[in-house]
Amino acid sequence: MTTTFETIRPPRGASPARARLATDAAELSLDGTWRFDLSPSAATPKDPSDSGASWGTIEVPGHWQLQGHGSPIYTNQQYPFPVDPPFVPDANPTGEYRTTFVKPADWTGRALIRFDGVDSWFELWINGRSIGDSSGSRLAVEFDITDALVDGENLVALRVHQWSFASYIEDQDQWWLSGIFRSVAVLHRPAGGIDDVFVHADYDHTTGAGVLTVDATTDGATATVTIPELGASFAAGERVVLDGVEPWSAEAPRLYDAVVTTDAERVLLRIGFRTVSIEGTVLLVNGTPITFRGVNRHDFDPRAGRAVSRETMEDDVRLMKRHNMNAVRTSHYPPDPYFLELCDVYGLYVIDECDLETHGFSLVDWRGNPSGDPQWAEVYLDRMRRTVERDKNHASVVIWSLGNEAGWGENLAANSAWTHDRDSSRPIHYEQDAECEGVDIYSRMYATFDELDAIGRQAEPRLENAELDAKRRGIPMIQCEYAHAMGNGPGGLEDYERIFDAYPRLAGGFVWEWFDHGLEVTAEDGSIGYAYGGDFGERLHDGSFVIDGLLLPDRTPSPGLVEYAAVIAPFRFQFSDDATNVVIENRLSFQTTDRAAFGWVVEADGVEVASGVLDVPAIAPRSFGGVDLPAAIPAALAEAVGERFLTLRAVTVEDAVWADAGHVLATGQVGFGVLTAASTVASAAASTASAGSVERTEDGGYVVANAVFDAAGVLRTLAGVEVVTAVLDAWRAPTENDRYPGHDDEAPVVETWRTDGLDRLEERFISLEVVTEVDGSTALVRRTRVAGGNTDVGFDVEYRWFAVGEGEAASVSLELTALRRGEWRNPLPRLGLTLGLSQGDPRAVPVSWFGAGPGENYPDSRVAARIGRFSSTVGAMQTNYVVPQENGVRQDTRWVELGLATGGLRIDGTTPFDLAVRPWSIAELDAATHVNELHAGSTLWLHLDAGVNGVGSATCGPPVRQTERFIVSGATLGFTFSTF
Ligand code: GAL
Repeated sequence: MTTTFETIRPPRGASPARARLATDAAELSLDGTWRFDLSPSAATPKDPSDSGASWGTIEVPGHWQLQGHGSPIYTNQQYPFPVDPPFVPDANPTGEYRTTFVKPADWTGRALIRFDGVDSWFELWINGRSIGDSSGSRLAVEFDITDALVDGENLVALRVHQWSFASYIEDQDQWWLSGIFRSVAVLHRPAGGIDDVFVHADYDHTTGAGVLTVDATTDGATATVTIPELGASFAAGERVVLDGVEPWSAEAPRLYDAVVTTDAERVLLRIGFRTVSIEGTVLLVNGTPITFRGVNRHDFDPRAGRAVSRETMEDDVRLMKRHNMNAVRTSHYPPDPYFLELCDVYGLYVIDECDLETHGFSLVDWRGNPSGDPQWAEVYLDRMRRTVERDKNHASVVIWSLGNEAGWGENLAANSAWTHDRDSSRPIHYEQDAECEGVDIYSRMYATFDELDAIGRQAEPRLENAELDAKRRGIPMIQCEYAHAMGNGPGGLEDYERIFDAYPRLAGGFVWEWFDHGLEVTAEDGSIGYAYGGDFGERLHDGSFVIDGLLLPDRTPSPGLVEYAAVIAPFRFQFSDDATNVVIENRLSFQTTDRAAFGWVVEADGVEVASGVLDVPAIAPRSFGGVDLPAAIPAALAEAVGERFLTLRAVTVEDAVWADAGHVLATGQVGFGVLTAASTVASAAASTASAGSVERTEDGGYVVANAVFDAAGVLRTLAGVEVVTAVLDAWRAPTENDRYPGHDDEAPVVETWRTDGLDRLEERFISLEVVTEVDGSTALVRRTRVAGGNTDVGFDVEYRWFAVGEGEAASVSLELTALRRGEWRNPLPRLGLTLGLSQGDPRAVPVSWFGAGPGENYPDSRVAARIGRFSSTVGAMQTNYVVPQENGVRQDTRWVELGLATGGLRIDGTTPFDLAVRPWSIAELDAATHVNELHAGSTLWLHLDAGVNGVGSATCGPPVRQTERFIVSGATLGFTFSTF
């Protein structure tokens, strides 16, 4: 059977692609409940005249797999069907859709039906009459249906196939989800109306003028453009120079309302004047260099897949702005059109990407890749055209992208040429044009720190073709994807930022990616979990690679997002050593510091002792300004005792659409008299000096102040609380990044850790002694060896327990020493004491600590953390990564207080320690594959560590940098456990 969904060609019967216009011409939304029937194959088509009255129903927009029909499939690169283009399997789920609408009696002109997104191939009938067919899942298509319409009710019939020839060029890393997932509307096109508009609105930064041409496509009618605010009125097609306009930028997204009119139609435009240009290796907007601080965003909702509501999109944009982002790449297709309206209004630079990816061909050595096959040329061009035509009037769209991961070939070169020709105002991007034949910007994914640095210096390896090499070396570079945000991570954001900052050629980057695409599922026990690849029984899938965003599926900002906001903050602070001066760096491109208010606070041991506002004269964009700090600051720092911290905060002054006034933009902190490992030796010695003595219990055990031990010296109760375990430990529930080699092609760290037995450490008793110190006090000293089965490496461990304080107030102190023995490899995941305390509902336990916070932090992800006193609960200190893994560490903790059921327990470190508190064990965290498989037990798990390893982004990028790895030959830790 010859079926057209396996025929490589652009849509049949479609109207020319055009801009999406806000018009006063009538429009009927067909969104709502449609009749629906799903067949397992294309072999049993329904009669297009059948209204489907006896069928079930479906919500449009929506995916059928998320409405009880069939199930989602997740693959990254792999095609879930044989690579046999343009053919697709016989098992090709086919959805029949029906709805009706009444043609308004006053529609005298022509009528179009518009589909904003149908996945993947469909055929359309109106009143049983074939109108055409289309593919290009994330691309709008319109059909002229005038001649098929009748007065009164009209029947719309669509047959949608899950698989088609087009599936080969829609191999983006996402769920395969089918159906009419974006809006459908019927549009009245009045005679003499305006079919298309192309706004060319440049900003001349040398004169401050807007240079504007508004081209209008009409059927001969004359169109006029007015911009009331500028008092301008002129003919469409006329070039006008408008003096004194305010330019559009992501920082100040100024839009002017304009109207294009003919006698029959009014089209409303929101015009942003701005010019994107490239000068040498530098990317400019309105004549000023810009740096993208961006993110890759798919349309996604955990319940509705790619059928996203306006609220969700607005929430996305608001959250991006609130986290200091200025750019978004619409990976890997044009987004829902409303998203771009939001980017215009809120201010985000957009790389608008064509709906095109053939990544699966890379797995067959790119044999048969459509990008170089002339049969596909028209289909490729149609996609690019539909991308550019729909979105061409958005000020926010500053770059066109030809697609993603489709290799390179003639068809992409042709798309580049067409786009240059159609719109010379925007540069072209495409990452897999490695030699930069057809692009204006050199783009890389996941380049390592060193590679990025070399590119910044224009010192990247040479291309064979000298001409292309010269071209490439002479143009700006972006990382269209970097800092893979899968699971706990990305680490190293600050390291990347430093390199971006160092070289004008580097125009910044886009973190991969915005959202964890976990599909919400309710388990049998009623708990909510998030599905990833394999959870729907897919035979081929890519597991949790779809869970790699900065937003958890329930829209909780991940620690990675909070870190990113801090790393890309618009201002940075550099304090003088004596706290009399601060140099503020304004990292914005257009705005001075005027729109921010600056406040300071001095804290001593985490308690505020003074605060005030800081007057900051306007510091120009992209420059530094020195500001004298008020005398009250050095005075407060000098007066206070203990560890002193000066924290400076910049907040917004005015309410904005994305945040109310007072929103924190940037934070800087500097410490004085800060505790370090070296500075605390003395205090450790001091506490030893006040030690009491070890007593025996009747059953042969020992008591040291508020701690009870068994006859082997194993801690059994602490401050009256039953101790489940108290042992040296070095394991962490591997992060997903721990499980990948990263670019350095080293073995994943977790392999080393497992080989060295860290996942199965056990303890062997060596000795127990009551030792008498020089001052006559005694200590209980237990020595053990901690090692894992089938390894010859291990730790020699000494737990030295002694009492401090007198009588009732006496507390137990521990000095824990662990030395590595044997041929160890580095780094370690962590090293410290794991303490399990019996506790009814550990999640509810209140926790206060003085250390780094408030959020989780790791050695290569702690710019967002500051040192202070924070309060939370054990439950709230967990990060609910979809795939359970190591999380929740608060580094450099000086002390922690826990509100246990039996009373307060306080742990003071003799040196700052890395803290994790959990309602489950590391083994439980490691064993769970979905977040709702984790159930709090009746043990509160405390991890009091000398250090932890960084997190990196090795799932798709570099592993943890050498300097942020936890490399030690052992550790000495000291704690005092007291009650409060
Ligand atoms: C890139 C790709 C993205 C995503 C990422 C890994 O190669 O462009 O779509 O797959 O890798 O998560």
